[in-house]
Amino acid sequence: MNIILFGPPGVGKGTQGITLANEIDIVHIAMGDLLRAAVKNRTALGQEAQSYMDAGKLVPDTLVIGLIEERITCVDAAKGFLLDGFPRNVAQALALDEMLAKHAMLIDRVIFLDAADSLLLERLGGRLICKACGFGFHRHYSPPREAGLCDQCGGELYQRDDDKEDVIAHRLEIYKEQTQPLLQFYSTLDAFHQVDASGDIKSVYQLILDKVQ
Ligand code: AP5
Repeated sequence: MNIILFGPPGVGKGTQGITLANEIDIVHIAMGDLLRAAVKNRTALGQEAQSYMDAGKLVPDTLVIGLIEERITCVDAAKGFLLDGFPRNVAQALALDEMLAKHAMLIDRVIFLDAADSLLLERLGGRLICKACGFGFHRHYSPPREAGLCDQCGGELYQRDDDKEDVIAHRLEIYKEQTQPLLQFYSTLDAFHQVDASGDIKSVYQLILDKVQ
């Protein structure tokens, strides 16, 4: 099964996407994670992408489209993949359609997660991530057992640079301008489902699972 999970920053794409991909045994492909890895490894693409990410802007399509094609055609993605954070505008959606046709692949579900801006601000403002394994926590909603340390591996927790208040506000603006138009692009497909992501993590997961099953 191939799935697109999209929605505003902080709505829970990563939180839900990782759990769902594990449960149905497909690969979780998060564009944000691919880009952060490129920045950390100081690749040419990472160096180009960094200033856009720090400012909360979208990285140019030419960079992300190549990256996603490389990833979905890796051997491990043959069993199915969940795209988290791609596509993020109509040009990327069109490029994805072309790529899928070229590799004889189909998308089985497009799941749109939505929640009010006030909730997104709260979720992003409190997010903590493990430096070592990337596992996500939230200061209030899902705090680590020991402050500052990951429950999974004991690694140090940090706040993403783009989770600072002014950058979050900009990311939400960019989302409304560039990503929200994808709703029109996908909402007429039979594969499309909208999920209210304002509940707690478990209840949102159940709603998503219902759409996938
Ligand atoms: P990316 O990393 O994809 O960021 P994003 O889309 O802004 O999404 P987030 O990762 O911030 O949020 P999420 O929805 O995954 O929420 P999460 O599950 O962590 O992209 C970063 C940057 O990379 C972009 O700004 C851009 O520069 C670039 N980029 C990425 N893709 C690109 C593309 N296609 N084209 C161009 N540029 C691109 O949850 C957030 C917090 O809330 C966590 O703490 C979590 O524990 C908590 N939480 C989640 N769900 C719940 C719930 N139901 N109840 C309570 N708490 C919850």
